[in-house]
Amino acid sequence: MANRITTPFGQAVPPAPRHAVTVHMPGWQSVQKYGADPRSVIATFSNAYPRAKPHRDIASLANMVLSHLGLTGHGCFLFSSLASAEECVGYCTSPRRADSERSPIPPDVIQIRAFKAKDPFWPVVFPSEYESVAAGFWSKPGVGVSSRFAEANLSFINQLAEASISYQVESRPSFETAKHETIRERIISYLERATLQPTVPKPSSNDVFLFPTGMASIYKPHTYLSHLHNGTTILFGMAFMDTVTAFQEFGSGFKFFGLGSDEDLLALEVFLREERSQGRKVQAIWAEFPANPILVTPDLVRLRALADDYDVILAVDDTIGSYANVDITHMTDILVTSLTKSFNGYADVIAGCAILNPTSRHYNTLKTLFNARYVPELYVDDVEALERNSRDYLTRTRKLNHNAKSLVDYLRTCSEDRNSAVHRVHYPSVNSSGKHYRQFMRRETPEFTPGYGCLFSVEFDDIQTTEAFYNNLNVHNSVHLGAPFTLAFAYTACTYAKKLDWAASYGLKPTQIRVTAGLEDTNLLLEDFRIAVEAANQVRSQPGH
Ligand SMILES: *[C@@H]1O[C@H](CO)[C@@H](O)[C@H](O)[C@H]1NC(C)=O
Ligand SMILES: *[C@@H]1O[C@H](CO)[C@@H](O)[C@H](O)[C@H]1NC(C)=O
Ligand SMILES: *[C@@H]1O[C@H](CO)[C@@H](O)[C@H](O)[C@H]1NC(C)=O
Repeated sequence: MANRITTPFGQAVPPAPRHAVTVHMPGWQSVQKYGADPRSVIATFSNAYPRAKPHRDIASLANMVLSHLGLTGHGCFLFSSLASAEECVGYCTSPRRADSERSPIPPDVIQIRAFKAKDPFWPVVFPSEYESVAAGFWSKPGVGVSSRFAEANLSFINQLAEASISYQVESRPSFETAKHETIRERIISYLERATLQPTVPKPSSNDVFLFPTGMASIYKPHTYLSHLHNGTTILFGMAFMDTVTAFQEFGSGFKFFGLGSDEDLLALEVFLREERSQGRKVQAIWAEFPANPILVTPDLVRLRALADDYDVILAVDDTIGSYANVDITHMTDILVTSLTKSFNGYADVIAGCAILNPTSRHYNTLKTLFNARYVPELYVDDVEALERNSRDYLTRTRKLNHNAKSLVDYLRTCSEDRNSAVHRVHYPSVNSSGKHYRQFMRRETPEFTPGYGCLFSVEFDDIQTTEAFYNNLNVHNSVHLGAPFTLAFAYTACTYAKKLDWAASYGLKPTQIRVTAGLEDTNLLLEDFRIAVEAANQVRSQPGH
């Protein structure tokens, strides 16, 4: 058995570098607390996922700004572009922020300031009582400054001064460096590697747009698209929880086909036909490939055909499949990826990218749109770390694939035993929608055999057995994926605790534990899982259970 985990609640998963993006929420007790009141639990984290709350370096820089302004009783969020600061104000003051707990921030009490330590940034300042409204913008779009940005500026804090708001057009050398180009070229080389379509032109580096987070790589293109037309945004299949919320909170209309099944494709076509007959334009269709957290893979061939028939843009998120395993660029108009995950691989940088497919019929429109709207916001220090970390992306992905597959095979065997508490496993290799995944797996080469990625979900008979498994599994509990360490997370029980019926209608259950395999020794991992499964089996076999 691997060493017993002793990381305290609310701290980063070891080795926990300064910019770690994880937080450990040990055991079922944390699940219940988080499900009941996520905001109060997040407030107690000493290290949080960067979008959940600002990193301590960012909080320090924000406090410096507030004291420079002589403001008490105020909060402030920092942005590295005026555009993002303006979007924050638009969000906070929108009538859509009115709900049972909150009301929009009155426009006369929220303001954008401009500051400069060496280069500029734009704080959005508001009275503290509106913190929870503004926090919604910090946590979903993911366009705030990064912790490395704050760290760099803190070391020059004696130069902190207010600047002119319109300081925008001058060059911002920290956001476009040779390292940024290296990353774009590296991404292109992974897209070209072992491709299924050697004769189809691939994107070039100027088709790759870098963003400060994976969520920003969805949110920003989503907002750009509203400048083409304001139509309904479609999400086909389940997606990461913040993606679902982002489409609900931003844009003009959202339609969700959350099973992502072949039946949903029929319903989608009915919807597209209806919109067309009403003379309404659909803004875009989005999908994950495969989808978080139960790994249903959409039928991309039919989605592409529908998008073409109804002249709709198709944007696909391949974060879970990952570049090394799947080759889908040619099926998309926009390919988006969270580089925070397996690409970076060390759980200490956040970044994302959106790529335009040069063979798409919408390419010229999208390229013009992106070039007009895009503001670089990914900070040089983050890019430098990303560049170092992504050098071994292929080697790591091979191990992540192998560990996930080994655990899935073991758990699948358990599920076939009538006496086991393991009910089923969700992974593309064991689901009928896996055929849609295999269709786009890259070619095998001597250096790399494509697999199904690091993420799977294991489902138990009931809550008692789920809890026993969770409490006895010797891995960290956190939301991240693609890290060196294996993570288990009670995804549905935590994030949809107040909407379990809604989640259940899309196949998500609190008895499912999302697991993301890490780089540990395979046999040690299998042994840890065996111990946890036995604990669950024991509960199941107790009299009266
Ligand atoms: C502050 O961040 C900016 C990015 O806007 C960066 O270019 C600059 O070097 C940082 N300032 C200092 C003083 O480090
Ligand atoms: C869509 O709505 C946004 C926000 O209301 C607006 O800025 C944009 O101009 C609209 N786009 C079109 C094409 O009408
Ligand atoms: C595939 O996954 C979906 C969603 O979890 C489920 O409804 C379906 O039964 C699965 N099919 C197989 C063959 O496992």
